[in-house]
Amino acid sequence: MSNPQDIYSDYKEKVDALITSSVSKNIPATLYEPLKYILSNGGKRIRPMMIIFACEICGGKMEDALNAGVAIEMLHNFTLVHDDIMDNADTRRGLETIHKKWNDNVAILTGDHLIGLAYSYLIKTDSKNLKGIVDTFTEGIIEVCEGQSFDKEFEEKFAVTIDEYLMMISKKTAKMLETSAIIGALLGNGTPEQVENIRNYASNIGLAFQIQDDLLDITADETEFGKKIGGDLVEGKKTYLLLKAMELVEDEKDKLKIMEVVNKELIKHDLEERILTIKRIYEDYGIIESAQERIKHYTELADKYLNTFPDNEYKERLKWFSGMLMGRSF
Ligand code: IPE
Ligand code: IPE
Ligand code: MG
Ligand code: MG
Ligand code: MG
Repeated sequence: MSNPQDIYSDYKEKVDALITSSVSKNIPATLYEPLKYILSNGGKRIRPMMIIFACEICGGKMEDALNAGVAIEMLHNFTLVHDDIMDNADTRRGLETIHKKWNDNVAILTGDHLIGLAYSYLIKTDSKNLKGIVDTFTEGIIEVCEGQSFDKEFEEKFAVTIDEYLMMISKKTAKMLETSAIIGALLGNGTPEQVENIRNYASNIGLAFQIQDDLLDITADETEFGKKIGGDLVEGKKTYLLLKAMELVEDEKDKLKIMEVVNKELIKHDLEERILTIKRIYEDYGIIESAQERIKHYTELADKYLNTFPDNEYKERLKWFSGMLMGRSF
């Protein structure tokens, strides 16, 4: 089996099996039910995949990266459960979010629990680089919190520059992929140069990934995406697309529509129609294409760092991975 798509499916199955076996307890039910619910209902598992692929390209084995892969996925799920409270999101992975199905307290505790579980898997890792791995993981958590804080602050801030936006997404999203790549490279005993190149590969993939997530908020098919379309608009999120619209829109009527989003006045009444209007504006001013170009730009940059590695099946996997992420629809 050398087809990257098959390898991805095979590794995903292994990660999923380990995740499923990670929770055997049932009581208290308000802790274990939502925990099983978030861990077993989908997810692309791209962060564990980044750990495994990075480990392999540096000379390590998939088996050595599985516990760390489970750890990063648990950490990611913690960020999602708390992010959904912060973003007032009702759906995730096609299902009701935990705070909606249960309540905020249950969701807060599920997230807290996931951090503990994540560390319990991380330290199962057998590596001479364990201290570096744990340090990297911890630094990742701190930076995601900073990123999420900027994300919320920017909702209330009128003038946000594209550079500030990039700084924010590099923390809230790219950092987790970067963390995964560094941990994978350390597990594979990569050279400092290899660690640096794979880190840069992942951080650029991360930037592309978040811009695409912003784009999918308005262009995706809701069922496939698994999240409410227009969620970012309702929350007045300073997405790449909204910032570009604030910069480029000239027509007075269109400007008013954009200001409704900025001022969080996108009331539930006629919401679908209002979202379609914003989509039309994004199309008219070339903002969709601008986002697509940025995604392509960061993906190409990522691949440049990948090209510092010799040609082999592991490099081919990572090349496929960046292409697959750029073409995704959910
Ligand atoms: C969602 O991450 C949060 C972002 C960083 C945009 P994913 O798109 O990787 O979510 P799952 O795990 O596949 O559901
Ligand atoms: C992703 O931000 C960052 C984290 C979850 C840490 P989003 O708020 O855009 O993610 P989704 O769209 O809810 O998955
Ligand atoms: Mg968010
Ligand atoms: Mg969100
Ligand atoms: Mg989003």
